[in-house]
Amino acid sequence: MKNIEFHNREKETKEIRAILDRQPTLITFVYGPINSGKTELINHVIEELPEEYVVFYINLRTKFLASYDDFIESLFEMEMETEAALKKGKETLAELVSSVTKVAGIPITREFLDYVFKDNKPKNAFSYIIKLFEEVKNSGKHPVLILDELQKIGDVKVNGPLIYELFNFFIDLTKEKHLAHVFVATSDSLFIEQIYNEAMLQGRCRYLLVDDFDKDTALNFFDECGFDDREKELAWNYCGGKPVYLVELLRVEDRGKMVERMLKIRTSQISELLNSLRAYGEKIEFRGEFYEIVYDNVIEELSKLKENVNCAYEYITPEITYLVRNNIVFVEPLENTMRAQSRLDLLAIREMLQR
Ligand SMILES: Nc1ncnc2c1ncn2[C@@H]1O[C@H](COP(=O)(O)OP(=O)(O)OP(=O)(O)O)[C@@H](O)[C@H]1O
Ligand SMILES: [Mg+2]
Repeated sequence: MKNIEFHNREKETKEIRAILDRQPTLITFVYGPINSGKTELINHVIEELPEEYVVFYINLRTKFLASYDDFIESLFEMEMETEAALKKGKETLAELVSSVTKVAGIPITREFLDYVFKDNKPKNAFSYIIKLFEEVKNSGKHPVLILDELQKIGDVKVNGPLIYELFNFFIDLTKEKHLAHVFVATSDSLFIEQIYNEAMLQGRCRYLLVDDFDKDTALNFFDECGFDDREKELAWNYCGGKPVYLVELLRVEDRGKMVERMLKIRTSQISELLNSLRAYGEKIEFRGEFYEIVYDNVIEELSKLKENVNCAYEYITPEITYLVRNNIVFVEPLENTMRAQSRLDLLAIREMLQR
């Protein structure tokens, strides 16, 4: 099996390393369109980090999060290493910390687990994590907490949404205690839009965009993979710099045929979605209420992308929400613009509008 080498993310890697080099002050939100390589970048940076960093990485993507307990469980890890440590009698936090060698969820002993789940209060879990991170610091290392796909906890409630409790905890870890670096990654641009406009986070976080490769980076990638000039042009024109598509193109011999097939599939997916909207209508939750999506408004939003790659929006409407939730459109809240999730989506939208 051929492994695909991690390709150039120098600028983003440098930015993350510069953040890690200084004492923690702000929460870092890593965002970008779907499949742009956020998780890949984070994993790459983690791999290259010196020993002095202890990374607690939690990816919520695969976790089932219906309740507060689910969330707390997803944070903690009673994995083999920890279990083995327990068997050897490593019961204190210092001993536990010394047994954490690689990236994992947050280790916990059975004794603390009872405490953390007691009373169903995030406060217990958070005070345990603070104790653990302090222990990491005492051992001369720097704790780094990374939560991937955080938007998944959006609906979990504990005296109001859990997310507020969590953000307060992150602010405490960074700006107040300077105890741990906190990175939050998400491909849900509506989630970032909400965060961006959230009063409690003003001046307490920074944003790091991990976008599809730009043209130079993509062309460089094609060169490294041995594409000829015709293939390079085709790949860029159809797929832009979306890493996941480029990797897919590597797999096949006839790249010309492949890009056309990819566009055909995407166009038919988007057409099907919109035809079904026209035929049956759809309600979505928007600002806490259910809204009927207006087909003509959706087409109007998409039509803005006929001539332009990017277009400005004044505010998020139910129709923009619908397009984002269906992974057709990406909103960039820092600039109040929207665009297709990828070059392929843009071409598919334009093709669909012509039908
Ligand atoms: N820098 C890179 N070099 C080589 N391949 C990459 C790179 N970044 C991403 N990829 C490829 O693209 C795929 C998708 O990347 P990844 O899962 O990191 O995207 P993501 O932005 O986290 O996606 P999601 O929006 O689903 O969270 C990876 O599995 C990998 O094959
Ligand atoms: Mg990801």
